[in-house]
Amino acid sequence: MHKPLAKLNTASPNRDMAKDPSLDAAYALETPEDSKQLYASWADSYDSDFARISDYILPEAVARHFVNIGGFGPVLDVGAGTGLCGTALRARGIEDIDGTDISADMLKVAKTKGIYRTTRVENLFDGLATPHGPYQGAVSSGTFTNGHVGPNGIKPILAAVRSGGRVVISVNTKHYAAAGFEDIFAQLETEIDDLTTTEAAIYGPSASGDHAKDTALLVAFRRT
Ligand SMILES: C[S@@+](CC[C@H](N)C(=O)[O-])C[C@H]1O[C@@H](n2cnc3c(N)ncnc32)[C@H](O)[C@@H]1O
Repeated sequence: MHKPLAKLNTASPNRDMAKDPSLDAAYALETPEDSKQLYASWADSYDSDFARISDYILPEAVARHFVNIGGFGPVLDVGAGTGLCGTALRARGIEDIDGTDISADMLKVAKTKGIYRTTRVENLFDGLATPHGPYQGAVSSGTFTNGHVGPNGIKPILAAVRSGGRVVISVNTKHYAAAGFEDIFAQLETEIDDLTTTEAAIYGPSASGDHAKDTALLVAFRRT
């Protein structure tokens, strides 16, 4: 089912994404409902096909950056998917990781990895629950990208994090410029500090094809 990066086609928004999950289909999504539909059909093969074949290293980079800037748990993994970023956080000793995602099917796979304290099916745009109180930190890998979540996903994350908490969010580099992320961070000037953006590869050296050299910005900040 998966197409290696080298063979990815440009997807039309009209094609049946549920039957044909791929990176281009993901980039062509338009609504949260589209995400649910696409990821329902992608969940079972996401790790073994997409992540493995594409040499998808972004979740590792987000987790490493979070730890490097002094982040610690409890931490919320936003758009946790199948749990790749949570797994990378746990490997670095972070504890009390909760996962949230709009796709119940992706979270079902994440749960099998036994690393999340809790998982919750939530649409980020409707706000994020904090049943244990605000989080000490938050991460997000691969969710702020074309066809998924734009700058309006930043405030709900900030609202779920306590004062002093650290946040690392990857934003696809082209999406960052096109969707106006600079404006949202300017608006939040008094609510965040230590804002940095660090460019990172999304895919590792064995990736090939149109997207192989795509990058993301690791946007890191502290809630004031
Ligand atoms: C490319 S996957 C990334 C998953 C994981 N973080 C990773 O790096 O492998 C994007 C994830 O964002 C989720 N997503 C998309 N829109 C969302 C929304 N509005 N609220 C919450 N999750 C959303 C999708 O269901 C999907 O699991």
